[in-house]
Amino acid sequence: MKILVTGGTGYIGSHTVVELQARGYEVIIVDDLSNSSIDVLDNIAKISGKKPLFEKFNLTDQEKTTAFFKLHNDITAVIHFAAFKAVGESVEFPLMYYRNNLLSLVNILQGMIDNNIRDIVFSSSCTVYGQPDLLPAREDTPVQKAASPYGNTKQICEEIITDTSISGNIRGILLRYFNPIGAHDSAFIGELPLGIPNCLMPYITQTAIGKRPFLRVWGDDYDTPDGTAIRDYIHVVDLARAHVIAVERLTGEKCKKSVEVFNLGTGNGFSVMEVIKSFERTSGVKLNYEIMERRPGDIVKVWADTDFANEELGWKAEKNLDEMTRSAWNWELALEKKK
Ligand code: WQD
Repeated sequence: MKILVTGGTGYIGSHTVVELQARGYEVIIVDDLSNSSIDVLDNIAKISGKKPLFEKFNLTDQEKTTAFFKLHNDITAVIHFAAFKAVGESVEFPLMYYRNNLLSLVNILQGMIDNNIRDIVFSSSCTVYGQPDLLPAREDTPVQKAASPYGNTKQICEEIITDTSISGNIRGILLRYFNPIGAHDSAFIGELPLGIPNCLMPYITQTAIGKRPFLRVWGDDYDTPDGTAIRDYIHVVDLARAHVIAVERLTGEKCKKSVEVFNLGTGNGFSVMEVIKSFERTSGVKLNYEIMERRPGDIVKVWADTDFANEELGWKAEKNLDEMTRSAWNWELALEKKK
């Protein structure tokens, strides 16, 4: 079976391609390389022994997207990762985010309908929950007004897929990620943030390797045990494996509704300080950090209720926090060696 992975040279996309190939799927990637490198294709091949098919174009280009689907009329299902995803940047450039993230999905769905491709797995985010009143966050936890245009595009994309499934022959699985961190054990693929990282884990490893003078800890006056904010960090390989299971649920006719939602987390919340301590334990590096003011827009704490994903998908995150921070460090060390 041939699976289209949009954004497949990106962080979660590349790890998902590796897991799909391990399960014997043929993969074709569409990516505009706006936030990833073409080298990822060779690095995927170093792990799987097979270089995925690849086409470079931006999915907001309707003509190119239509032509792509016409040419590759043997695609069985789509996993859609391609999107801009920096919260801060989305506040600065909202129209860039709405155009890119919404139009690409519309073009993909149109291409699927025109070519009788029914199944799509969509990369969503726990940001749709905002700061839940009740924790852990369940799939029926109320979706709150998005705190950023990025988060809003995720909510709107979920609605676009839902509405399209009602009108046409589209079935979707929406995967709401918590906080993906870490890298493949081979250290051939990992998170490649261009410029200054927004996210915690790459900022920690870049500080430890000497690229950044110190980590800024955004606030230690939250209502949490150590005062720093809590998130549900999940290993990117565990996350990737859930995507293969989701595709097989769709193509295997196991879905119970035309659109299903699953939270992908570990069910454990860890604070910023606990992540730092784990990193120091697994890397042996003392991290240089300073406590700063809170970052605007940050929520205090969130972690996933994993029961539904465990029971319905038969999937459970297996890797612990130390495995996540150790793999992130090995990846940073591998990047350093490549210089
Ligand atoms: C985690 C914690 C920060 C950096 C965002 C998006 C989400 C997803 C993951 C795309 C927070 C603290 C961070 C730093 C810090 N992205 N932190 N110093 O904000 O939970 O989620 O990224 O899909 O959609 O919203 O992740 O890694 O930015 O922050 O103290 O230099 O680490 O304040 O408490 P976040 P994050």
